[in-house]
Amino acid sequence: MTKDEIILAQQECLFPAVFHYFREPLVLTRAKDQFVWDAAGRQYLDFFGGILTVSVGHSNPQVNAAVHAQVDKLQHVSTVFATEPQAALARKVAEIAPGPGWKSFFTCSGTEANEMAILAARCYTGSSDIIALRHSYHGRSAMGMALTGNQGWRLGPATQPGITFAHNAYCYRCPFGLTYPSCEVRCAQDVKEVIRTTTPGQIAGMIAEPIQGVGGFITPPKEYFSIVAKIVRDHGGVFISDEVQTGWGRTGHRWWGIEQYGVTPDVVTGAKGLANGFPIGLTAARPEVANSVKKLTLSTFGGGPISTVAAKAVIDFIEQENLAANAATTGAYLRGHLEELQRKHRIIGDVRGMGLMQALELVQDPVSKAPAPVETVRLMEAARDHGILIGKGGLEGNVVRISPPLNVSTADVDDFIKALDASLTSCAA
Ligand SMILES: Cc1ncc(COP(=O)(O)O)c(C=O)c1O
Repeated sequence: MTKDEIILAQQECLFPAVFHYFREPLVLTRAKDQFVWDAAGRQYLDFFGGILTVSVGHSNPQVNAAVHAQVDKLQHVSTVFATEPQAALARKVAEIAPGPGWKSFFTCSGTEANEMAILAARCYTGSSDIIALRHSYHGRSAMGMALTGNQGWRLGPATQPGITFAHNAYCYRCPFGLTYPSCEVRCAQDVKEVIRTTTPGQIAGMIAEPIQGVGGFITPPKEYFSIVAKIVRDHGGVFISDEVQTGWGRTGHRWWGIEQYGVTPDVVTGAKGLANGFPIGLTAARPEVANSVKKLTLSTFGGGPISTVAAKAVIDFIEQENLAANAATTGAYLRGHLEELQRKHRIIGDVRGMGLMQALELVQDPVSKAPAPVETVRLMEAARDHGILIGKGGLEGNVVRISPPLNVSTADVDDFIKALDASLTSCAA
Protein backbone atom coordinates (compact mmCIF):
# COMPACT_ATOMS: atom_id res chain seq x y z
CA MET A 1 0.00 0.00 0.00
CA THR A 2 1.16 3.55 -0.65
CA LYS A 3 1.24 6.08 2.16
CA ASP A 4 -1.95 7.69 0.87
CA GLU A 5 -3.72 4.31 0.59
CA ILE A 6 -2.77 3.55 4.20
CA ILE A 7 -4.14 6.88 5.44
CA LEU A 8 -7.33 6.47 3.39
CA ALA A 9 -7.92 2.90 4.62
CA GLN A 10 -7.40 4.06 8.20
CA GLN A 11 -9.90 6.88 7.69
CA GLU A 12 -12.48 4.69 5.98
CA CYS A 13 -12.14 1.41 7.87
CA LEU A 14 -11.03 2.15 11.44
CA PHE A 15 -13.18 3.61 14.20
CA PRO A 16 -12.61 7.38 14.11
CA ALA A 17 -11.73 7.11 17.81
CA VAL A 18 -8.32 5.80 16.66
CA PHE A 19 -6.70 9.21 16.78
CA HIS A 20 -3.38 10.51 15.45
CA TYR A 21 -1.02 13.10 16.78
CA PHE A 22 -0.52 15.03 13.57
CA ARG A 23 -2.62 17.00 11.07
CA GLU A 24 -1.46 14.49 8.45
CA PRO A 25 -1.04 11.07 10.06
CA LEU A 26 2.59 9.95 10.21
CA VAL A 27 2.90 6.58 8.48
CA LEU A 28 5.82 4.63 9.91
CA THR A 29 7.25 1.70 8.01
CA ARG A 30 10.32 0.53 9.94
CA ALA A 31 12.34 1.12 13.09
CA LYS A 32 15.72 0.26 14.60
CA ASP A 33 17.13 1.12 18.01
CA GLN A 34 16.22 4.77 18.77
CA PHE A 35 15.11 5.58 15.21
CA VAL A 36 11.95 5.15 13.14
CA TRP A 37 11.44 5.82 9.42
CA ASP A 38 8.36 7.06 7.60
CA ALA A 39 6.95 5.91 4.28
CA ALA A 40 9.13 8.42 2.41
CA GLY A 41 12.27 7.06 4.10
CA ARG A 42 12.67 10.03 6.46
CA GLN A 43 14.37 9.23 9.78
CA TYR A 44 13.08 10.37 13.19
CA LEU A 45 14.73 10.16 16.60
CA ASP A 46 12.07 8.46 18.72
CA PHE A 47 11.90 10.11 22.14
CA PHE A 48 8.43 8.75 22.94
CA GLY A 49 9.29 5.06 22.51
CA GLY A 50 5.87 3.90 21.32
CA ILE A 51 4.30 5.44 24.47
CA LEU A 52 7.03 4.25 26.90
CA THR A 53 6.88 0.77 25.44
CA VAL A 54 10.04 0.37 23.41
CA SER A 55 12.20 0.07 26.49
CA VAL A 56 15.27 -1.59 24.96
CA GLY A 57 15.24 -0.07 21.46
CA HIS A 58 13.23 -0.87 18.36
CA SER A 59 13.79 -4.39 16.98
CA ASN A 60 16.20 -5.21 19.78
CA PRO A 61 18.24 -8.13 18.37
CA GLN A 62 18.42 -10.05 21.66
CA VAL A 63 14.67 -9.83 22.26
CA ASN A 64 13.83 -10.58 18.64
CA ALA A 65 16.14 -13.61 18.53
CA ALA A 66 14.33 -15.07 21.56
CA VAL A 67 10.98 -14.41 19.89
CA HIS A 68 12.03 -15.87 16.52
CA ALA A 69 13.24 -19.06 18.20
CA GLN A 70 10.03 -19.33 20.22
CA VAL A 71 7.70 -18.78 17.23
CA ASP A 72 9.17 -21.85 15.54
CA LYS A 73 9.02 -23.94 18.70
CA LEU A 74 5.75 -23.35 20.57
CA GLN A 75 3.52 -20.41 19.76
CA HIS A 76 0.28 -20.90 21.67
CA VAL A 77 -1.32 -23.53 23.87
CA SER A 78 -3.21 -21.34 26.42
CA THR A 79 -2.66 -21.23 30.15
CA VAL A 80 -4.46 -24.51 30.82
CA PHE A 81 -1.06 -26.06 30.00
CA ALA A 82 2.29 -25.26 31.61
CA THR A 83 5.05 -23.75 29.46
CA GLU A 84 8.64 -22.79 30.19
CA PRO A 85 8.39 -19.15 28.94
CA GLN A 86 5.55 -18.30 31.34
CA ALA A 87 7.17 -20.15 34.26
CA ALA A 88 10.58 -18.56 33.61
CA LEU A 89 9.07 -15.07 33.45
CA ALA A 90 7.06 -15.60 36.65
CA ARG A 91 10.26 -16.81 38.36
CA LYS A 92 12.11 -13.69 37.16
CA VAL A 93 9.32 -11.33 38.25
CA ALA A 94 9.35 -12.99 41.69
CA GLU A 95 13.09 -12.25 41.86
CA ILE A 96 12.69 -8.53 41.22
CA ALA A 97 9.22 -8.03 42.79
CA PRO A 98 8.84 -5.52 45.64
CA GLY A 99 8.65 -8.32 48.25
CA PRO A 100 9.32 -12.03 48.84
CA GLY A 101 7.11 -14.76 47.39
CA TRP A 102 5.18 -12.53 45.01
CA LYS A 103 3.05 -14.25 42.37
CA SER A 104 2.19 -13.20 38.81
CA PHE A 105 -0.91 -13.26 36.64
CA PHE A 106 -0.30 -12.50 32.96
CA THR A 107 -2.70 -10.87 30.53
CA CYS A 108 -2.29 -8.86 27.32
CA SER A 109 -2.52 -5.20 28.35
CA GLY A 110 -2.21 -2.70 31.16
CA THR A 111 -5.98 -2.40 31.24
CA GLU A 112 -6.40 -6.09 31.99
CA ALA A 113 -3.57 -5.97 34.52
CA ASN A 114 -5.43 -3.28 36.44
CA GLU A 115 -8.74 -5.19 36.19
CA MET A 116 -7.02 -8.14 37.85
CA ALA A 117 -5.43 -5.95 40.51
CA ILE A 118 -8.82 -4.52 41.52
CA LEU A 119 -10.36 -8.01 41.52
CA ALA A 120 -7.55 -9.31 43.75
CA ALA A 121 -7.91 -6.34 46.14
CA ARG A 122 -11.64 -7.02 46.43
CA CYS A 123 -11.17 -10.78 46.92
CA TYR A 124 -8.49 -10.24 49.57
CA THR A 125 -10.27 -7.58 51.62
CA GLY A 126 -13.90 -8.52 51.09
CA SER A 127 -14.55 -4.81 50.56
CA SER A 128 -15.39 -3.19 47.25
CA ASP A 129 -14.52 0.50 47.49
CA ILE A 130 -11.52 1.71 45.53
CA ILE A 131 -9.79 5.08 45.73
CA ALA A 132 -8.20 6.45 42.57
CA LEU A 133 -6.58 9.79 41.84
CA ARG A 134 -7.74 12.69 39.76
CA HIS A 135 -5.70 13.08 36.53
CA SER A 136 -4.98 9.33 36.51
CA TYR A 137 -5.18 6.91 33.58
CA HIS A 138 -5.72 3.19 34.22
CA GLY A 139 -7.10 1.78 30.97
CA ARG A 140 -9.87 1.62 28.43
CA SER A 141 -12.22 -1.14 29.67
CA ALA A 142 -15.35 -0.13 31.60
CA MET A 143 -13.39 -0.54 34.85
CA GLY A 144 -10.25 1.13 33.42
CA MET A 145 -12.22 4.20 32.39
CA ALA A 146 -14.07 4.27 35.69
CA LEU A 147 -10.70 4.39 37.48
CA THR A 148 -9.44 7.16 35.19
CA GLY A 149 -9.58 10.72 36.49
CA ASN A 150 -9.50 12.47 33.12
CA GLN A 151 -12.66 13.31 31.17
CA GLY A 152 -10.84 12.94 27.85
CA TRP A 153 -10.49 9.20 28.36
CA ARG A 154 -13.87 8.41 29.98
CA LEU A 155 -16.15 7.49 27.10
CA GLY A 156 -19.82 6.72 27.50
CA PRO A 157 -21.22 5.87 30.95
CA ALA A 158 -17.80 5.36 32.51
CA THR A 159 -18.83 5.91 36.12
CA GLN A 160 -19.02 2.82 38.35
CA PRO A 161 -20.22 2.59 41.94
CA GLY A 162 -17.49 2.01 44.51
CA ILE A 163 -14.79 4.18 42.92
CA THR A 164 -14.01 7.61 44.33
CA PHE A 165 -11.27 10.08 43.53
CA ALA A 166 -8.83 11.92 45.76
CA HIS A 167 -6.89 15.01 44.72
CA ASN A 168 -3.55 14.25 43.13
CA ALA A 169 -0.15 15.61 44.11
CA TYR A 170 0.08 18.18 41.34
CA CYS A 171 2.58 20.60 42.86
CA TYR A 172 2.73 22.89 39.81
CA ARG A 173 -1.03 23.42 40.08
CA CYS A 174 -1.71 22.52 43.69
CA PRO A 175 -5.42 21.67 44.08
CA PHE A 176 -5.30 23.36 47.51
CA GLY A 177 -3.41 26.44 46.32
CA LEU A 178 -0.50 25.57 48.61
CA THR A 179 3.24 25.35 48.06
CA TYR A 180 5.52 22.42 48.80
CA PRO A 181 7.00 21.81 51.40
CA SER A 182 5.08 24.25 53.61
CA CYS A 183 1.87 22.48 52.44
CA GLU A 184 2.91 19.47 54.56
CA VAL A 185 1.66 17.35 51.66
CA ARG A 186 -1.98 18.29 52.25
CA CYS A 187 -3.00 16.31 49.14
CA ALA A 188 -1.97 13.03 50.80
CA GLN A 189 -4.38 13.75 53.66
CA ASP A 190 -7.16 14.15 51.11
CA VAL A 191 -7.12 10.35 50.70
CA LYS A 192 -8.25 10.03 54.33
CA GLU A 193 -10.92 12.67 53.81
CA VAL A 194 -12.25 10.85 50.73
CA ILE A 195 -12.32 7.48 52.50
CA ARG A 196 -14.17 8.94 55.49
CA THR A 197 -16.71 10.89 53.46
CA THR A 198 -17.41 8.73 50.39
CA THR A 199 -16.91 5.10 51.49
CA PRO A 200 -18.14 2.91 54.36
CA GLY A 201 -14.73 3.47 55.98
CA GLN A 202 -13.32 0.05 55.10
CA ILE A 203 -11.93 -0.04 51.56
CA ALA A 204 -10.60 -2.64 49.13
CA GLY A 205 -7.69 -0.45 48.17
CA MET A 206 -6.22 2.40 46.27
CA ILE A 207 -4.69 2.42 42.81
CA ALA A 208 -2.15 5.06 41.82
CA GLU A 209 0.62 5.66 39.32
CA PRO A 210 3.93 6.63 40.96
CA ILE A 211 4.17 9.26 38.22
CA GLN A 212 0.90 10.01 36.44
CA GLY A 213 1.70 9.19 32.82
CA VAL A 214 -1.20 10.24 30.60
CA GLY A 215 -1.87 12.97 33.18
CA GLY A 216 1.37 14.63 32.07
CA PHE A 217 4.13 12.96 34.13
CA ILE A 218 2.83 14.51 37.35
CA THR A 219 5.44 13.62 39.94
CA PRO A 220 4.41 13.63 43.62
CA PRO A 221 6.79 14.86 46.34
CA LYS A 222 8.92 12.22 48.05
CA GLU A 223 6.77 11.83 51.20
CA TYR A 224 3.47 11.46 49.35
CA PHE A 225 3.15 7.71 48.87
CA SER A 226 4.31 6.65 52.33
CA ILE A 227 1.58 8.84 53.87
CA VAL A 228 -1.03 7.60 51.42
CA ALA A 229 -0.13 3.90 51.69
CA LYS A 230 -0.44 4.09 55.49
CA ILE A 231 -3.86 5.74 55.28
CA VAL A 232 -5.04 3.06 52.83
CA ARG A 233 -3.82 0.22 55.08
CA ASP A 234 -5.28 1.86 58.19
CA HIS A 235 -8.65 1.57 56.44
CA GLY A 236 -8.19 -2.10 55.56
CA GLY A 237 -7.17 -1.61 51.93
CA VAL A 238 -4.30 -2.75 49.74
CA PHE A 239 -2.07 -0.35 47.87
CA ILE A 240 -1.81 -1.00 44.11
CA SER A 241 1.02 0.67 42.23
CA ASP A 242 0.18 1.01 38.54
CA GLU A 243 3.65 0.63 37.03
CA VAL A 244 2.49 0.43 33.43
CA GLN A 245 4.58 3.50 32.57
CA THR A 246 7.00 3.69 35.50
CA GLY A 247 8.17 0.06 35.71
CA TRP A 248 11.27 -1.75 34.43
CA GLY A 249 13.87 0.84 35.41
CA ARG A 250 12.34 3.80 33.60
CA THR A 251 12.58 6.13 36.63
CA GLY A 252 16.24 5.29 37.26
CA HIS A 253 18.14 2.72 39.34
CA ARG A 254 15.01 0.88 40.57
CA TRP A 255 12.77 -1.67 38.86
CA TRP A 256 9.58 -0.04 40.15
CA GLY A 257 8.66 3.63 40.24
CA ILE A 258 7.12 3.25 43.69
CA GLU A 259 10.52 2.25 45.10
CA GLN A 260 11.62 5.87 44.55
CA TYR A 261 9.22 6.71 47.38
CA GLY A 262 10.43 4.00 49.77
CA VAL A 263 7.02 2.29 49.72
CA THR A 264 6.38 -1.44 49.36
CA PRO A 265 3.02 -1.88 47.60
CA ASP A 266 0.75 -4.93 47.91
CA VAL A 267 0.17 -5.24 44.17
CA VAL A 268 1.96 -3.91 41.10
CA THR A 269 0.71 -3.83 37.54
CA GLY A 270 2.89 -3.69 34.43
CA ALA A 271 2.54 -3.76 30.65
CA LYS A 272 4.02 -1.42 27.97
CA GLY A 273 7.83 -1.54 28.43
CA LEU A 274 7.83 -5.07 29.83
CA ALA A 275 7.88 -6.78 26.44
CA ASN A 276 9.22 -3.98 24.19
CA GLY A 277 6.03 -3.93 22.10
CA PHE A 278 4.74 -7.50 22.37
CA PRO A 279 1.34 -7.44 24.09
CA ILE A 280 1.56 -8.27 27.76
CA GLY A 281 -0.04 -7.34 31.07
CA LEU A 282 1.29 -8.29 34.47
CA THR A 283 -0.45 -8.26 37.84
CA ALA A 284 2.02 -9.21 40.56
CA ALA A 285 0.90 -9.45 44.18
CA ARG A 286 2.19 -10.48 47.55
CA PRO A 287 1.26 -14.11 48.19
CA GLU A 288 -1.69 -13.52 50.55
CA VAL A 289 -3.34 -11.22 48.02
CA ALA A 290 -2.63 -13.52 45.05
CA ASN A 291 -3.90 -16.56 46.96
CA SER A 292 -7.18 -14.84 47.77
CA VAL A 293 -8.35 -15.09 44.13
CA LYS A 294 -9.85 -18.54 44.62
CA LYS A 295 -12.25 -19.09 41.74
CA LEU A 296 -10.94 -20.03 38.31
CA THR A 297 -10.01 -17.24 35.94
CA LEU A 298 -8.42 -17.43 32.53
CA SER A 299 -6.80 -15.23 29.90
CA THR A 300 -6.56 -17.09 26.58
CA PHE A 301 -3.57 -15.12 25.30
CA GLY A 302 -2.21 -14.01 28.68
CA GLY A 303 1.05 -15.74 29.58
CA GLY A 304 1.48 -16.95 25.99
CA PRO A 305 4.92 -18.19 24.98
CA ILE A 306 5.75 -15.35 22.56
CA SER A 307 5.03 -12.39 24.81
CA THR A 308 6.48 -14.03 27.93
CA VAL A 309 9.68 -15.06 26.17
CA ALA A 310 9.97 -11.48 24.90
CA ALA A 311 9.38 -10.05 28.39
CA LYS A 312 12.02 -12.28 29.96
CA ALA A 313 14.49 -11.23 27.27
CA VAL A 314 13.67 -7.57 27.94
CA ILE A 315 14.28 -7.89 31.69
CA ASP A 316 17.52 -9.81 31.04
CA PHE A 317 18.67 -7.10 28.61
CA ILE A 318 17.86 -4.31 31.09
CA GLU A 319 19.88 -6.15 33.74
CA GLN A 320 22.77 -7.09 31.50
CA GLU A 321 23.17 -3.57 30.09
CA ASN A 322 22.49 -1.86 33.43
CA LEU A 323 19.78 0.25 31.80
CA ALA A 324 18.10 1.33 35.04
CA ALA A 325 21.39 3.10 35.87
CA ASN A 326 21.48 4.56 32.36
CA ALA A 327 17.92 5.84 32.88
CA ALA A 328 19.19 7.68 35.97
CA THR A 329 22.37 9.18 34.48
CA THR A 330 21.16 9.90 30.93
CA GLY A 331 17.85 11.01 32.44
CA ALA A 332 19.69 13.51 34.68
CA TYR A 333 21.62 14.74 31.64
CA LEU A 334 18.35 15.16 29.71
CA ARG A 335 16.75 16.93 32.67
CA GLY A 336 19.61 19.43 32.91
CA HIS A 337 19.20 20.33 29.24
CA LEU A 338 15.40 20.62 29.54
CA GLU A 339 15.86 23.05 32.44
CA GLU A 340 18.22 25.08 30.24
CA LEU A 341 15.51 25.18 27.58
CA GLN A 342 13.06 26.37 30.23
CA ARG A 343 15.31 29.35 30.98
CA LYS A 344 15.34 30.19 27.26
CA HIS A 345 11.70 29.55 26.28
CA ARG A 346 9.00 31.25 28.39
CA ILE A 347 6.41 28.78 27.16
CA ILE A 348 7.93 26.05 29.37
CA GLY A 349 6.20 26.49 32.71
CA ASP A 350 7.35 23.31 34.44
CA VAL A 351 9.94 20.59 33.92
CA ARG A 352 9.26 17.39 35.84
CA GLY A 353 9.69 13.64 35.96
CA MET A 354 12.29 11.07 36.93
CA GLY A 355 14.93 9.19 34.98
CA LEU A 356 14.00 8.84 31.32
CA MET A 357 10.44 9.97 31.96
CA GLN A 358 10.53 13.75 31.68
CA ALA A 359 7.86 16.31 30.79
CA LEU A 360 7.50 19.95 29.86
CA GLU A 361 4.24 21.67 30.80
CA LEU A 362 3.58 24.44 28.30
CA VAL A 363 1.87 27.66 29.42
CA GLN A 364 0.86 31.00 27.91
CA ASP A 365 3.23 32.68 30.35
CA PRO A 366 4.99 31.55 33.52
CA VAL A 367 3.06 33.97 35.76
CA SER A 368 -0.56 33.19 34.85
CA LYS A 369 0.36 29.54 34.08
CA ALA A 370 -2.59 29.45 31.66
CA PRO A 371 -2.30 26.14 29.76
CA ALA A 372 -1.08 26.32 26.14
CA PRO A 373 -2.73 23.38 24.32
CA VAL A 374 -2.79 25.03 20.87
CA GLU A 375 0.90 25.84 21.12
CA THR A 376 1.56 22.26 22.22
CA VAL A 377 -0.07 20.94 19.03
CA ARG A 378 2.07 23.39 17.06
CA LEU A 379 5.18 22.17 18.85
CA MET A 380 4.33 18.55 18.06
CA GLU A 381 4.14 19.41 14.34
CA ALA A 382 7.38 21.41 14.51
CA ALA A 383 9.14 18.56 16.30
CA ARG A 384 8.05 16.20 13.53
CA ASP A 385 9.45 18.65 10.96
CA HIS A 386 12.73 18.70 12.90
CA GLY A 387 12.96 14.89 12.91
CA ILE A 388 12.07 14.06 16.53
CA LEU A 389 9.05 12.26 17.99
CA ILE A 390 7.64 13.39 21.34
CA GLY A 391 4.40 12.60 23.17
CA LYS A 392 1.58 14.74 24.48
CA GLY A 393 -0.48 14.48 27.66
CA GLY A 394 -2.14 16.32 30.53
CA LEU A 395 -5.77 17.07 31.28
CA GLU A 396 -5.48 20.21 29.11
CA GLY A 397 -3.32 18.59 26.42
CA ASN A 398 -0.48 21.00 27.18
CA VAL A 399 2.24 18.65 28.39
CA VAL A 400 5.07 17.32 26.24
CA ARG A 401 6.08 13.80 27.26
CA ILE A 402 9.65 12.65 26.68
CA SER A 403 10.38 8.96 27.18
CA PRO A 404 13.02 7.48 24.87
CA PRO A 405 14.19 3.85 25.00
CA LEU A 406 16.23 3.17 28.16
CA ASN A 407 19.39 2.56 26.13
CA VAL A 408 19.72 6.02 24.56
CA SER A 409 23.03 7.85 24.99
CA THR A 410 23.95 11.40 25.92
CA ALA A 411 24.78 11.93 22.21
CA ASP A 412 21.15 11.04 21.38
CA VAL A 413 20.04 13.53 24.04
CA ASP A 414 22.26 16.23 22.46
CA ASP A 415 20.65 15.63 19.05
CA PHE A 416 17.20 15.61 20.61
CA ILE A 417 17.71 18.84 22.56
CA LYS A 418 19.08 20.64 19.49
CA ALA A 419 15.99 19.64 17.49
CA LEU A 420 13.61 20.46 20.35
CA ASP A 421 15.21 23.87 20.84
CA ALA A 422 14.82 24.61 17.11
CA SER A 423 11.19 23.39 17.24
CA LEU A 424 10.40 25.65 20.21
CA THR A 425 12.03 28.61 18.44
CA SER A 426 10.12 28.00 15.21
CA CYS A 427 6.82 27.81 17.15
CA ALA A 428 7.47 31.09 18.90
CA ALA A 429 8.25 32.86 15.56
C1 LIG B 1 -0.56 4.04 33.83
C2 LIG B 1 -1.33 3.23 32.82
N1 LIG B 1 -2.09 2.21 33.24
C3 LIG B 1 -2.78 1.46 32.38
C4 LIG B 1 -2.74 1.71 31.03
C5 LIG B 1 -3.53 0.85 30.09
O1 LIG B 1 -2.63 0.04 29.37
P1 LIG B 1 -3.08 -0.60 27.97
O2 LIG B 1 -3.19 0.51 26.98
O3 LIG B 1 -1.97 -1.57 27.68
O4 LIG B 1 -4.36 -1.30 28.20
C6 LIG B 1 -1.96 2.76 30.55
C7 LIG B 1 -1.90 3.05 29.11
O5 LIG B 1 -1.46 4.08 28.67
C8 LIG B 1 -1.23 3.54 31.47
O6 LIG B 1 -0.48 4.56 31.06
